[in-house]
Amino acid sequence: MKHLLSAGDLSRDEANLILDTAEEMRSLADRPIKKLPALRGRTVVNLFFEDSTRTRISFEAAAKRLSADVINFSAKGSSVSKGESLKDTALTLQAMGADGVVCRHGSSGAPHLLATSGWMTGAVVNAGDGTHEHPTQALLDAFTMRRHLGSLEGRRVTIVGDVLHSRVARSNVLLLSTLGAEVTVVAPPTLLPVEMRSWPCVTSYDLDAALPKSDAVMMLRVQRERMNDAYFPSAREYTRRYGLDVHRMAQLPDEAIVLHPGPMNRGMEISAEVADSTRSVIVEQVTNGVAIRMAVLYLLLSGSNESNEESNA
Ligand code: CP
Repeated sequence: MKHLLSAGDLSRDEANLILDTAEEMRSLADRPIKKLPALRGRTVVNLFFEDSTRTRISFEAAAKRLSADVINFSAKGSSVSKGESLKDTALTLQAMGADGVVCRHGSSGAPHLLATSGWMTGAVVNAGDGTHEHPTQALLDAFTMRRHLGSLEGRRVTIVGDVLHSRVARSNVLLLSTLGAEVTVVAPPTLLPVEMRSWPCVTSYDLDAALPKSDAVMMLRVQRERMNDAYFPSAREYTRRYGLDVHRMAQLPDEAIVLHPGPMNRGMEISAEVADSTRSVIVEQVTNGVAIRMAVLYLLLSGSNESNEESNA
């Protein structure tokens, strides 16, 4: 594995290797000294063209816990605002030395372009591109489910909400099906993408029918900033039909868990009582995100000096 661009690129063995490695990284969090020297001398560039709290900070924490040097780039406040292109931004950061690039971009396919253009020689990790994919989010979600439910083989996962604009949904459907889970996607018809017909999952418009058969339910953020009103009836109507409140949550089996990738619209797709309930693993997802990102950086970059020297020779 040279890059991590899509959850769909991962075989079951590769996905399990990342999850198992993350389990080892997660155990470091309980130790007084949380750092490993594994990536000493390597440089990780966080290349963020879109806003982020969880992903950017957890990649930074992950790289630092592996003793890598970190360069943080945000489009806001950079020469992108003067019109500098992705190519020139990439060439500039490569000139400063980058063994790994973590890229978030509003355009689907931007990390793929970085990985294949030759503008940067290091490993590229997709940290969320447009409405396409967010593979490390899916990995941390699967990791969190696995810690609560054991093997995901045959487990029933329900993903609810604004699938049309969600890179998290696509990555989760692809990864969870690779890991053997049965995925149901529940959404209003206007918030389901047409290409979903080729996704390895079942679709439904009825949340109340899906909940009693779910081992895990993942609520998606309603991305109002990416939609016009034609997609979205009204906040009240959406919450009434697709929001998770304590009454709906009571339909879940006893051991079922509630996930949300964040940031949440409390009171819209998920009530505050549910988000803060004992079934919610939302804060744990954030903790697990650091372990997953440590595992991904470790697997992609340990030994990258040799491969970069070879490819530059
Ligand atoms: N889940 C997620 O990608 O959150 P951020 O946008 O805060 O990184």
